[in-house]
Amino acid sequence: MILVTGGAGYIGSHTLVELLQADHEVVVLDNLSNSSEESLRRVMEITGRRLEFVKADLLDVDALEQVFNSYPIDSVIHFAGKKAVGESVAEPLLYYENNVCGTLNLLKAMRKHQVKRMVFSSSATVYGDPVSVPIQETAALQPTNPYGRTKLMIEQMLIDLKGSWENFSVAILRYFNPIGAHTSGRIGEDPAGIPNNLLPFVAQVAVGKREKLSVFGDDYATVDGTGVRDYIHVVDLAKGHLLALGKTGEENLLGIYNLGTGNGYSVLQIVHAFEEASDSKVPYEIVERRPGDIAVCYADSGRASKELGFAVEKGLTEMCQDTWRWQKNNPEGYGV
Ligand code: NAD
Ligand code: UFG
Repeated sequence: MILVTGGAGYIGSHTLVELLQADHEVVVLDNLSNSSEESLRRVMEITGRRLEFVKADLLDVDALEQVFNSYPIDSVIHFAGKKAVGESVAEPLLYYENNVCGTLNLLKAMRKHQVKRMVFSSSATVYGDPVSVPIQETAALQPTNPYGRTKLMIEQMLIDLKGSWENFSVAILRYFNPIGAHTSGRIGEDPAGIPNNLLPFVAQVAVGKREKLSVFGDDYATVDGTGVRDYIHVVDLAKGHLLALGKTGEENLLGIYNLGTGNGYSVLQIVHAFEEASDSKVPYEIVERRPGDIAVCYADSGRASKELGFAVEKGLTEMCQDTWRWQKNNPEGYGV
């Protein structure tokens, strides 16, 4: 059985669909601090399969112990964590406690119960401002904010644990920019309040919930001056987790993999692609650069492709169409 921490969230819920469709038994642990149990109900609806759910916090050691005592867990996919860069600058201790201490508790429970396989959600944010693109896994690690530093600290904890526990098998996945939604339009990204990320904001403008997009700077050294990122469809990303999990079962792994498409798109290219996919207008204005933003970031995912057999199937049009379907059918996210 697979323990999926943070499974009620955006990437977790999409990965659950793939896991259940591949006949895996799953128990989800989530404190619902940034998600809703409705996502899990919809995962079961899409797949016609059941999953177990425990509402608990990774900081609650007793609850964690109970989960490991109650289910025959043999591997863990660890999504649970806080992920808002700005909030991490304002509340760094909250981030170190939730992400680093939460993972520490999880690893202690895994060690105690001899659960040896793990897939961890890291982020391209560990690279900070890259020296060159496309970014390889061997690039310098220099995160520029507390959130990124929690990811790097966790990566280092995992590497140290591997050094002392030979049978521990771990895949560290550095995601680039996940967007899109399941094609059913039943699950998707449901940010609380004003979205920090580009696609949810664009989608809310297109649906008429917000007046216009603020484009953060048009004076970067890019194709049109706006920031360039590597957007990857969340379903392609979810499938990458199954490949990584399989790899942790084949061998005693310490694998670090970029998961991106290798393509970079600018903010304005995204706006235009979204307008086309949704047949709607996305008014925008150019404003100041957002502090801490970088100009260009995209992946070299060659290692994941070679070692995991990872390949993306969905292009930008599908990413925008699927985001739009989710937004249009669920204007209030899971709230309705
Ligand atoms: P999300 O917020 O939708 O999902 C995270 C889930 O973890 C939520 O359901 C939340 O309730 C839960 N959670 C948080 N702290 C917890 C705790 N202490 N105990 C139990 N549950 C807890 O985020 P997501 O976009 O699905 O991201 C999943 C993971 O991938 C995160 O670790 C995130 O840092 C990482 N990541 C995300 C992105 C992105 O752009 N979405 C990019 C790179 C990496
Ligand atoms: N952008 C705008 N207006 C907005 C939001 C974003 O112009 O309202 C621009 C940004 O300046 C950037 C691009 O759109 O050029 C993408 O911004 P996002 O906030 O969507 O994504 P980031 O690349 O800044 O960061 C995301 C996650 C991080 C993660 C990183 C790498 O938020 O947590 O991807 O995985 F670390």
